[in-house]
Amino acid sequence: MPACDSNPEATYKAVILLGGPAKGTRFRPLSLDQPVPLMSIGGYPLIFHHVEACAAVPGMREIILIGYYPKDQLSQFVDECQRKFGIRMRYLQEFTPLGTAGGLYHFRDQIMLGDPAAFFVMNSDVCCDFSLADMLAKHRPGTYTVMCTEATRSQSVQYGCAVIRKGTDEIMHYVEKPATFVSTMINCGVYILSPSIFQYLKSAVKVHKDAHFTFDLSSQCNECVQMEQEVFQPLASRNCLFAYVTTRFWSQVKTAGAAIYANRHMLELYRTSHPDRLATAQSIPDGPKIIGNVYIHPTATVSPTAVLGPNVSVERFVTIGNGARVRESILLQGAVVRDHACVLFAVLGSSATIGEWTRVEGTPTDPNPNKPFAKIETKDLFNEKGQLNPSCTVIGSHVSVAPETIVRNSIVLRAQRVGSQLQKPNYPVILQIVLATYKLWCQFSLT
Ligand code: GTP
Repeated sequence: MPACDSNPEATYKAVILLGGPAKGTRFRPLSLDQPVPLMSIGGYPLIFHHVEACAAVPGMREIILIGYYPKDQLSQFVDECQRKFGIRMRYLQEFTPLGTAGGLYHFRDQIMLGDPAAFFVMNSDVCCDFSLADMLAKHRPGTYTVMCTEATRSQSVQYGCAVIRKGTDEIMHYVEKPATFVSTMINCGVYILSPSIFQYLKSAVKVHKDAHFTFDLSSQCNECVQMEQEVFQPLASRNCLFAYVTTRFWSQVKTAGAAIYANRHMLELYRTSHPDRLATAQSIPDGPKIIGNVYIHPTATVSPTAVLGPNVSVERFVTIGNGARVRESILLQGAVVRDHACVLFAVLGSSATIGEWTRVEGTPTDPNPNKPFAKIETKDLFNEKGQLNPSCTVIGSHVSVAPETIVRNSIVLRAQRVGSQLQKPNYPVILQIVLATYKLWCQFSLT
């Protein structure tokens, strides 16, 4: 069967599924300040990398963001991307969470406007080396292509699992988060769908509506449809669902620990894709000492005696003082690291301040390097005993950490003061009168 790219006239669209405020709970408190899809990875919002990859696909006409965040939280990002990539972009807001397929069906007329040959669908909570042009070259017109990658046996059950026929790459069987082992091939959350997919989405919505009017009067909207369970599962083995297997970098980004892991890989990808985005001694003369891959926004102020890297992203208006050390961390807008402070495996929220000689440190949650195909663990923040699982440290926005303090494996909520702050003691009035009298008495008795 000819591949899509055989028609140079063909046009495409892309849809990025953002979710909404109810999602991203494992990203708190950072997700309380901004939508998770705008979390900074490699110095740019997470979905900026999706948009950049889509904009590079020949024939791409429009990128549509679908989610249930309020419009004003996305409008600046959409405007900036349109300007940067010169491509049409829109944010379409769902009236209620419609699941991973309901939004596509609800906005089908908008997606099909202009008659694209096929459209990409991407989960916003993944970060990868998108090889979209290659994926498109292997896509068969009229079918549906799912990007898959290999995981370990034990981790695979946390993802959508596909049994793939060798030779044709047809998906013979698909199960979302199976109870027992099915396959080590997992769904990466990136698809190319032919327009005929809407007939299956229509059937799935109809099943919901019928159920709603007969016995199931649950509060969930009857247009809420899940792509993985309700569309891919029944489509498997019908000679229309195919896998595109990637061996490049891919990770889910559902926790701050995963963001640090994704940040490291994104900075490494810049080495070949965008070397100009990496800080070097040449690009910042009289700048700090740089070790490995580091991104520094031009508006950041970094002391020449600070040491940064490897794998550090410094966002706009960040200040880093003399002798400070930052490693494997993300410093969000306006964060301040004062002189001689040390930040390791941490995310500093916007306008957070780390005092002099303070140490903020987390535990890396990297995949086991001895297990081939291991992915990052997206464990819950707390274990079954209610204790915090050791992970990277997250300092919420507007937090102030006192000088000479150690913060380790912690999540600090927004606008808190951590450690003893140097301030005047606030004595009760009666004690202040006694102290003032004592001082006077001392003065008079001395003269
Ligand atoms: P969890 O482990 O529970 O997070 O499940 P998952 O990994 O299967 O992810 P999920 O299916 O919840 O989400 C996959 C992607 O779809 C993410 O990028 C979400 O933001 C997005 N998504 C999920 N639900 C909705 C929805 O109702 N509307 C929209 N527009 N996007 C959604």
